[in-house]
Amino acid sequence: MSNLDLIERIELIYGDITKLEVEAVVNAANSTLLGGGGVDGAIHRAAGPELLKECRTVGGCPTGEARLTKGYNLPAKYVIHTAGPVWHGGNQREEQLLAECYRNSLQLASAKAVKKIAFPAISCGVYRFPLERAVKIAFSETLGFLKNNRYPEVVIFVSFGEKSYRYYQEEMQRLRLR
Ligand code: APR
Repeated sequence: MSNLDLIERIELIYGDITKLEVEAVVNAANSTLLGGGGVDGAIHRAAGPELLKECRTVGGCPTGEARLTKGYNLPAKYVIHTAGPVWHGGNQREEQLLAECYRNSLQLASAKAVKKIAFPAISCGVYRFPLERAVKIAFSETLGFLKNNRYPEVVIFVSFGEKSYRYYQEEMQRLRLR
């Protein structure tokens, strides 16, 4: 499958991930999985208290790993929680750990034959990961996974701000022209 076909399986959306009619949404959580602010807070608010109840039974999630729960009141059937790395300057394996977040989340989605999955910009908020690097990792890990896997069929990168949307658009354009 050419890179062009693969890139057709990636979509960009500017908006609130909790509103999307997709089978799985990825949550940029922390390793306790007990909720927080940002997209974690938004997902828990939209899913309702049952989500936290299930998260309590999971027993946490080490940085770079992912855990699947139900979506409850979300339109999405599943929430895939992943704990992204906090940016400390780039010499504490942050880039490898972020890559693992994407790979492990995609692996869980593939195992459930999820057709459509939406990712927020993991670690690019409170965890201060530089957007430009994070977007490149998101695309390279996702394209690498899609090359060898039928599911998910479509991956959506959701931006909650103009700046991050522009970075995703620029990377998409760069990859299309290759
Ligand atoms: N829909 C889509 N994206 C969103 C939404 C939303 N409703 N809300 C926030 N975002 C975006 C932010 O703009 C940012 O680009 O998600 C990205 C990730 O930012 P954070 O939510 O701050 O997550 P992160 O940087 O990974 O930090 C995780 O924050 O909320 C706590 O419990 C969480 O401790 C963990 C830490």
